[in-house]
Amino acid sequence: MKEIIIHNKKFTVLIPSEKIQDGVTGVAEKINSELKGKQPLFICVLNGAFIFASDLVKKLNIECEISFIKLASYIGTTSSGEVKTLIGLDKNVHGRTVVILEDIVDTGLTLETIVKQLSFFEPKEIKVATLLLKPEAYKRDIPIDYAALKVPNDFLVGYGLDYDGLGRNLEDIYVLAVD
Ligand code: XMP
Ligand code: MG
Repeated sequence: MKEIIIHNKKFTVLIPSEKIQDGVTGVAEKINSELKGKQPLFICVLNGAFIFASDLVKKLNIECEISFIKLASYIGTTSSGEVKTLIGLDKNVHGRTVVILEDIVDTGLTLETIVKQLSFFEPKEIKVATLLLKPEAYKRDIPIDYAALKVPNDFLVGYGLDYDGLGRNLEDIYVLAVD
């Protein structure tokens, strides 16, 4: 079993790169047939989705655009809670078929925040494509149109996902080892 250490924690391979590529190819094939002629605008959610977005768009044969956003947190001056805002949206999404590209959908809170803020710009439709989906954790109503791989409710790292900044460059996906 392939093992690595990140920040003194042990991780083992959960999904080897070939299986990841098969999952990404599956999503690309579905998008190629379902979104042909719609000139979709892909919106990659940084940082985690950058490798997924890169591999996915290379497998697409339809006319499309890609843009990048980030969720920035700040503490509001009037409310005590943490507020997340979308930054970096530089394309007009009005009337467009928009596809959000996420690294992982866990509880769905992040996705819900993004969909809410994107809706404000009145796209024609919003689709969601995620590399990983944790079905046991996901408790929202937003349909996940494309999920490359379903994963257990464990902490994962690699292929864009980080553990405290490290591990995004790994080509396989690893799970925190229990010992
Ligand atoms: P929610 O709960 O909002 O979570 O759907 C989505 C965001 O949380 C991060 N996340 C992870 N990051 N390994 C990671 O490296 C994981 O297993 C994991 N689960 C959730 C991620 O940033 C994602 O966008
Ligand atoms: Mg992270």
